[in-house]
Amino acid sequence: MLVNQQSFRTIWPNIAVDKVIATSVSIIDQTQLPHQFKIITVDHLDSMVKCIKTMQVRGAPLIGAAAAYGIALATLKSTVQQDLELAAAKLIASRPTAVNLQWAVQRMMPILLALNPADRIEAAWQEAANICNEDVAQNQAIGRHGLAIIQNQYQHKTFNILTHCNAGWLATVDYGTALAPIYAAHDAGLNVHVWVDETRPRNQGASLTAWELGQHGVPHTVISDNAGGHLMQHGQVDMVIVGADRVTAAGDVCNKIGTYLKALAAFDNQIPFYAAVPSPTIDWTIEDGLHEIEIEERNYDEVAIMRGRGADGNVLEVNILPSGPQAAATGVANPAFDVTPARLVTGIITEAGVFQPEHLMSIRHN
Ligand code: MRU
Repeated sequence: MLVNQQSFRTIWPNIAVDKVIATSVSIIDQTQLPHQFKIITVDHLDSMVKCIKTMQVRGAPLIGAAAAYGIALATLKSTVQQDLELAAAKLIASRPTAVNLQWAVQRMMPILLALNPADRIEAAWQEAANICNEDVAQNQAIGRHGLAIIQNQYQHKTFNILTHCNAGWLATVDYGTALAPIYAAHDAGLNVHVWVDETRPRNQGASLTAWELGQHGVPHTVISDNAGGHLMQHGQVDMVIVGADRVTAAGDVCNKIGTYLKALAAFDNQIPFYAAVPSPTIDWTIEDGLHEIEIEERNYDEVAIMRGRGADGNVLEVNILPSGPQAAATGVANPAFDVTPARLVTGIITEAGVFQPEHLMSIRHN
């Protein structure tokens, strides 16, 4: 995707001239956006684990790719099975909800362990690159399938799509999932406009989605998380498209906290609600998302502290909770994801096509 007209992916290996194996990985530090576009170098497994935990890299497909490169970084220190298994365990424990992370690690490990230790380093960097390239291709296909849905409903006036959190190119290796159909529609000359939920507490909508849509020139408006239902009641939303961190075999969609409320409002207003989901985000081992998906509970500071630009242009943090003697009376909770039951989901846009949730299993059988 384009940043100031220059093409970027969100993650890439740094390979010295004349070498096959990389020595480090570059990522875009997403905690600095939209205020600063900063690329950082990650050269150790533990640093990659930290980047995932602190959300310098985030979004389900991207943390899968980051975990794959985490394993590749671990091979630079040791190719002994026990050490690689320890690295895998650290990565899997770094964030619990998005299934892509464990999917990527579980794809890397058997490939590496089947090889002689001496061959594991090159294989690890190659497989991590394969995972990234497949992610890009899957998201491009999601863009094409999603574009067809939009074209079907397009009436040559502004087509308003509401999205939650950031499921754009920043959340993937490139193109995005929920935003891929939107980019495709915009590039095809359709008059699309995006309602961007701010997405408290970390504001991935206001900080990341608005930034990347702006870089691509897609018209958009940031709204408070509570505005979507009102806009739907007044005919100002034609479609909702969100991403997902884990989708069950029965089509339950786990995504950023607040997604469920958008799905309820869309259902009540007969507005189509789609989840854009590459196949590594589907957890075929479970059906009941509500009871079988671990929901990450994140640090309370994310709710208490707002970060932004002050009047002088410098980035600052402010605490919005009560202070003083009564502060201890205020509890804080921070569940990071929720589950939208399949019955509220119109369709799941995958690289293999668009499926009603109850027919998702047919991807597996093809
Ligand atoms: O906590 P985050 O920012 O990693 O959560 C991201 C989301 O919830 C996205 O919607 C999801 O990962 C889909 S990304 C293509």
